[in-house]
Amino acid sequence: MHRSKSSNEKRPHTSIMVGEVLQGFEGANLKVFYEGTLGAGGHAAAILEAHPEIERYIGCDKDPQALAIAAKTLEKWKDKVEFVQGNFADLGLHLEERGIKEVDGFFLIWGCHRCN
Ligand SMILES: C[S@@+](CC[C@H](N)C(=O)[O-])C[C@H]1O[C@@H](n2cnc3c(N)ncnc32)[C@H](O)[C@@H]1O
Repeated sequence: MHRSKSSNEKRPHTSIMVGEVLQGFEGANLKVFYEGTLGAGGHAAAILEAHPEIERYIGCDKDPQALAIAAKTLEKWKDKVEFVQGNFADLGLHLEERGIKEVDGFFLIWGCHRCN
């Protein structure tokens, strides 16, 4: 079924398995974080809320529309989040461009996105 861009933009984005994702990082001291599939920013918001120690959250997505939605979702953390439009396969380049030698947390998720 074809969905127009405008109808997709109006749909709420539901990030799945948020509890499991947070559990995976429980107790970790996350200063620098890289997410390769930022999407609408729901996982990022949950991770940033649970880990106020995060100083830099590099959020990558290949889709500029997703990044635009994520920018709204993550407004509260705008001083910490750096948006990257690109392919997470270029992770090394994205980090090198920002002078980052290592990250404390890394996250990718595919095929589990539901727009109601
Ligand atoms: C399941 S959604 C991400 C859900 C997101 N974490 C959230 O909370 O909304 C998958 C996202 O991965 C992005 N994506 C898929 N392959 C990618 C790639 N190779 N590089 C960057 N982004 C990619 C898609 O554009 C889509 O926005």
